[in-house]
Amino acid sequence: MNKELSRQERADALGGMGCKRKRVEDARFTQGKGNYVDDIKLPGMLFGDFVRSPYAHARIKSINTDAAMALDGVVAVLTAADLAPLGLHWMPTLAGDKQMVLADGKVLFQGQEVAYVVAKDRYIAADAVELVEVEYEELEVIIDPFASLKSDVVLREDLVAEDGSLPDGAHGPRKHHNHIFTWEVGDKETTEQVIGEAEVVAEDMFYYHRTHPCPLETCGCVASMDKVNGKLTLYGTFQAPHAIRTVVSLISGIEEHNIRVISPDIGGGFGNKVGAYPGYVCSVVASIVTGVPVKWVEDRMENLMTTAFARDYWMKGKIAATKEGKITGLWCHTTADHGGFDACADPTKFPAGFMNICTGSYDIPVAYLAVDGVYTNKAPGGVSYRCSFRVTEAVYFIERMIEVLAIELNMDPAELRRINFIKKEQFPYQSALGWEYDSGDYHTAWDKALEAVDYKGLRAEQAQRVEDFKAGKTRSLMGIGLTFFTEIVGAGPVKNCDILGLGMFDSCEIRIHPTGSAIARLGTISQGQGHATTFAQILATEIGLPADSITIEEGDTDTAPYGLGTYGSRSTPVAGAATAMAGRKIRAKAQMIAAYLLEVHDDDVEFDVDRFVVKGAPEKFKTMKEIAFAAYNQAIPGIEPGLEAVSYYDPPNMTYPFGAYVCVMDIDVDTGVTDIRRFYALDDCGTRINPMIIEGQIHGGLTEALAVALGQEIAYDDMGNVKTGTLMDFFLPTAWEVPNYETDHTVTPSPHHPIGAKGVGESPHVGGVPCFSNAVNDAFKAFGLRHTHMPHDHWRIWQTANKLGLHG
Ligand code: CDP
Repeated sequence: MNKELSRQERADALGGMGCKRKRVEDARFTQGKGNYVDDIKLPGMLFGDFVRSPYAHARIKSINTDAAMALDGVVAVLTAADLAPLGLHWMPTLAGDKQMVLADGKVLFQGQEVAYVVAKDRYIAADAVELVEVEYEELEVIIDPFASLKSDVVLREDLVAEDGSLPDGAHGPRKHHNHIFTWEVGDKETTEQVIGEAEVVAEDMFYYHRTHPCPLETCGCVASMDKVNGKLTLYGTFQAPHAIRTVVSLISGIEEHNIRVISPDIGGGFGNKVGAYPGYVCSVVASIVTGVPVKWVEDRMENLMTTAFARDYWMKGKIAATKEGKITGLWCHTTADHGGFDACADPTKFPAGFMNICTGSYDIPVAYLAVDGVYTNKAPGGVSYRCSFRVTEAVYFIERMIEVLAIELNMDPAELRRINFIKKEQFPYQSALGWEYDSGDYHTAWDKALEAVDYKGLRAEQAQRVEDFKAGKTRSLMGIGLTFFTEIVGAGPVKNCDILGLGMFDSCEIRIHPTGSAIARLGTISQGQGHATTFAQILATEIGLPADSITIEEGDTDTAPYGLGTYGSRSTPVAGAATAMAGRKIRAKAQMIAAYLLEVHDDDVEFDVDRFVVKGAPEKFKTMKEIAFAAYNQAIPGIEPGLEAVSYYDPPNMTYPFGAYVCVMDIDVDTGVTDIRRFYALDDCGTRINPMIIEGQIHGGLTEALAVALGQEIAYDDMGNVKTGTLMDFFLPTAWEVPNYETDHTVTPSPHHPIGAKGVGESPHVGGVPCFSNAVNDAFKAFGLRHTHMPHDHWRIWQTANKLGLHG
């Protein structure tokens, strides 16, 4: 006889929220059965490749494609002249600017797309690229945004009127021909007055260098135009497939129902795959022209040199405080280097993303932020890397500002943070720059973190190390990096977040099959985050069917409901909420079916883990499996057959995860070599759906943070040549450099999210970068250092030590 399972056993059997369910995706990934864009092979498929500019700024005098066309196997060579009659030589960017698809008269960055070769195989295409003759006339190159704003050289000639006047940009008036926008938030006058009258003011300039997420898989697509039925199928590495479908429709004029966009498996995105690239447009055009599918996949150098970069923000800050350390005001002016075109994927109203979260975790009464966007001769993009919306820059700014203020006050930076934290009872908290933080308990998290690492003991050890160094007993210094970050994720409420006019809601559609298994389709798309695992867990808890019986499908616009995709840790806050809400609709109908089957009133049954039971008579119940079958097999008066639901969720607010990180680092003063002895990361992402996946997200994000803080950069020389365009020069950490991470958590649910969950994917990167950087700066604090710019590679650290006179 079957033993009746306890309530807990029934709950455990579901594999719902809170359990460390193993990733269902891994069965195919670990056996080489993933299906990535480059795995897509269609009959007769051609291959595209770009001729790219070797110069960062040059006029194009002529393009001769004869030799390339003469090569056996070459089918077409497209230039701007071919695209111009179709109006496709320029395309709109997500930031309201426009970008050349193929060089139209001039090039603005090294690696810019000049011509597109289509050939019978990838190798012929590459050979033909070499045969295209382009005559360039070099122009003066500007890679410094400050110099750009003073230069007579006009980068974007298309944005200057014939009479020399400057038309407004997408975000209002422009101050100079190389200026893109000014964005101002906060109370300038009061902030400047508070700073002018303050007892203590700390001031500094922080440069968050240009870097790149460098996903394992580069960007690519396969465009397949079926001329017989007029349907375009576009496979690609798209983090926002529906948005791409809409953009392709708007650009091409093909009606949206005739476009099917499919994001297959994606090997990491980190924001790099949000935007639209010339490769997509050229492949679509080439497929329409040739009538056969065309594949385009970048190589590593193309990915690093030309696709969406991250950061490149110069942030000048002033922070005011009382002598006791109570912060009274914050001022920030940022010069944002956007490269040759403004192609950020920020929500329309936020030209510098959510940089206005820069008051951080602190109760700062008044603040002011201004951001000036500037054109230079660098690649466009500017949103990516585990924070599409500039939160990483904001958190780096405030967490460095706090450290500099602590130096000014001669105060312990941990204590300075503590006395300025927003208090638990202040939530929901209205920040000076316009956000409403949903929930937080910063003091509890901070105390837990400091206790876990024995903060006092570490400071004592550090003081002893300084003594020993001065006494010549050691050549190693010790840095203690602290960071307390508040993230803003879950874009977002349609009332204030849209991209190209598309409101940033998200969606889930559920179909329960008669035998009690299900498929749920979402408007998001996983790039390694494990959505197929975790969204099934949300549903298992909400609808009482085992997670193993629920398929999660994303990334096919013909089947998935419309959504804005996955980036900026928005999946859990938005699509996760849609999933829970759709699950609740299923449950509401299931309740009516159960009541009918049990011959009681709807209100007399209640949900219990995996079933509806008659209130007060737990032996009378119908399991969700039984209810599912009944939905398809019983004629129930007043209830339609079937069990399906769809939810489009517009979140009332963003979610505000937070965390407390501590890094302990030893630095060899003579070599600049860093050794991370300890890294403790406490994260609070509200309700935790899958603790194992959360831990994986944190390990990955911290490793990317380590990379950025300690060496990774996209560097240019004065001629605009990319100096770090290959993995020989671009730092990608391996197991060798990565420390053992200690993870911890507190749980402060979001009050407005249906299951209380906040996003987590970005947090470790956002919090990790300032933590590593603070550790380096802290190591040299006792020797007079206030701030040194990232990336803190061995050479730069050696130089810092040298400038401080530590080399004798
Ligand atoms: O949008 P993206 O998927 O990149 O970020 P996310 O919403 O932070 O989710 C990353 C992964 O962590 C997903 O598999 C989530 O379901 C999971 N997660 C979780 O288990 N619990 C949370 N509170 C937040 C995310």
